[in-house]
Amino acid sequence: MLIHTNLEKQQFHLSNGKVSYIFQVMKNGHLGHLYYGKALRHRSDFSHLQTYDVPTAASCHVYEDDPAFSLETLRQEYPAYGNSDFREPAISVGKDNAPNVPDFKYDSFRILEGKPRLEGLPATYSDKASTIQILLKDEFLQAELTLNYTIFQDKPVITRSASLKNYGTENLVIDRMMGASVDFPDKDFIFTHLSGTWSRERHVKERRLEMGNQSISSLRGASSHHHNPFLALKRLEATEHTGEVFGFNFVYSSNFIMQVEVDHYDTARLTVGIHPFGFKWNLLPHEVFQTPEVVMVYSNKGLNGMSQAFHSLYRENLIPAHWRKEKRPILINNWEATYFDFNEDKLVKIAKSASELGIELFVLDDGWFGKRNDDTSSLGDWHVDLTKLPNGLESLAKKTSNIGMKFGLWFEPEMISPNSELYREHPDWAVGTPHQRTFGRNQLVLDFSRPEIVDYLYKEMADIIKLTKLSYIKWDMNRNITEAFSQKLASNQQGEFFHRYILGVYSLYERLTSEFPHVLFESCAGGGGRFDPGMMYYAPQAWTSDDTDAIERLKIQYGTSFAYPIYSMGSHVSAVPNHQTLRTTPLLTRANTAYFGTFGYELDPLTLSEEEREEIKGQIVFYKNHRDLIRDGLFYRLLSPFLNNEAAWMVVSQDQSEALVGYYKVLATPNSPKQQTLRLSGLNETAAYSVAGNNQAYYGDELMQVGLQLPTEFNGVNGKSAERGGDFQSHVFYLRSIDIGEKDKRME
Ligand code: GLA
Repeated sequence: MLIHTNLEKQQFHLSNGKVSYIFQVMKNGHLGHLYYGKALRHRSDFSHLQTYDVPTAASCHVYEDDPAFSLETLRQEYPAYGNSDFREPAISVGKDNAPNVPDFKYDSFRILEGKPRLEGLPATYSDKASTIQILLKDEFLQAELTLNYTIFQDKPVITRSASLKNYGTENLVIDRMMGASVDFPDKDFIFTHLSGTWSRERHVKERRLEMGNQSISSLRGASSHHHNPFLALKRLEATEHTGEVFGFNFVYSSNFIMQVEVDHYDTARLTVGIHPFGFKWNLLPHEVFQTPEVVMVYSNKGLNGMSQAFHSLYRENLIPAHWRKEKRPILINNWEATYFDFNEDKLVKIAKSASELGIELFVLDDGWFGKRNDDTSSLGDWHVDLTKLPNGLESLAKKTSNIGMKFGLWFEPEMISPNSELYREHPDWAVGTPHQRTFGRNQLVLDFSRPEIVDYLYKEMADIIKLTKLSYIKWDMNRNITEAFSQKLASNQQGEFFHRYILGVYSLYERLTSEFPHVLFESCAGGGGRFDPGMMYYAPQAWTSDDTDAIERLKIQYGTSFAYPIYSMGSHVSAVPNHQTLRTTPLLTRANTAYFGTFGYELDPLTLSEEEREEIKGQIVFYKNHRDLIRDGLFYRLLSPFLNNEAAWMVVSQDQSEALVGYYKVLATPNSPKQQTLRLSGLNETAAYSVAGNNQAYYGDELMQVGLQLPTEFNGVNGKSAERGGDFQSHVFYLRSIDIGEKDKRME
């Protein structure tokens, strides 16, 4: 049983042996929070976990004769503001001529096996989970609030969301409605998040919680390059491998906030949801508003434990079922090889040459449609440019398939160029108003809050998918939304725009992915500007960053792995000098970094030397041999590129029989230490492992306690025996457990 209820005390305990989450109905009818953390033994009554006392002489309280019962200090499940609690609330909703002080009181509950879908929104799914829905009512507002909690059977994961129904006759206006709010009893945490910008997304940032509000957010109409909708509250002593961490991820791709408010008693209130700035939702009689979902992971095995829980959840319970076990093709993308300058002949030559290397999918990026020779025109005109491709897309797709490759295309469905046929025909389809305009990459955003526009895009894309028998789509989104205004929405509905926009994006994804489940979608937003679980529900992989420099990618991929499986990260080998940093790194290191993702190439194979071609053929064989391990294995971060001149990570198969270890050194060390080892993780202590290319065998405990011996580094005098050296060096090790007979020989 995953959900225990005590009807008399009105208490609820969600527990699966890994995590416990406990709450109860308080004497004022609101839901009070009792505990979230490592699984607790169940007992019939947990009332003693709610302790409270008179806060201060000056504080407000709910009952005249009980000054101790103040919402200022009571831990709550879904708090409101203005009722003796002065912290930021989970919900603010009201109607005309009354203060926005909702008063939701417990009504009833429902337990469901599995997890119901969230209408119109991406969310995790499972039939190995239990859900409890708590119904609360506000009689004055005539509104019913449902809090959804799902606990997964075999994962330290709880998901939360809320919905509000107007069962009255008057209009309600919601100006804040969070997916979840969690009141922690103390503030002894490190606020850990992933921030950056274009070309250096998801760098790990940490700061200690302090009194006051601290938050990350986006108001860009996309989850953003700048702050990922991920937050971990890490205990002060926690590390990558040990200690308690609470991880949160918002399954949403638009404006969000993740905030921790530390109050005057050093308690911490976390709220996660749609950013309330500018948000105003009209809830008409009989309508329901559903918040997106918050995923909450508990780990007592440090940050790696947290990440592994997110990874397995997203692998098994978020991405489209079709792609769970499917091998993703190794791709070549022509963007950095040609930019806008190509024709059919050039593309076919690239595809052919790539196919000879073993690459499986050819992706034609930007520039194949309208009159798009640079980024100043044609977005929205999704018909082939016959000057570049006179035989049409169908011919190119056929030629690609005759070469033995799959065919993929780039789209930017949400955009419109002012210089396009579509804009000339439908200027009102663009977001904004003609009297004021902000520019970004010469393009405007299409008003996806309008279903007729989404229908139009559906038809355009579905026709091309059918015509070309498309295998893959890179869905890009290259500018953020400014002057957020829909020419179709009433003036009192403009506060709904951002949410309606992303619901339109989700509905297009939903239609395309359900009609064409075999088409692999890779989401992209100027690189990694919308790398979030909302997108991952439809697109199992995302273009991690436009920055393909192997050294920059160490940080980007390391940070991204905090929440997202490595197999969701598009990671490609590109040409040198790198187009984003002008850095030159060895081909070996470029591949050694890119292996830990969905692998591909972003270069012109026609310019490669024979030697490079041979090396690349070997890389492709290597990746093909290990891609199941990369898809399904447990990922461990070992050395952080944010702290060291080195980085390391590894992936271990679920049965611990094999592992792939990546080690990277940014700058060479002069007169380097003689004994350099790398301590591994996640192996079977008693199993013996062989390391490819090395005759020695090692026990798992040795590899984890003593470490794996790194190849000898050049130190100025050991020229003959040095096995590595120079800047940007790297090494990937393949470990396999060996059977007893073999073991005996090698262990002697
Ligand atoms: C974005 C993407 C790139 C490429 C270009 C094409 O920047 O992130 O990978 O597709 O658009 O214009």
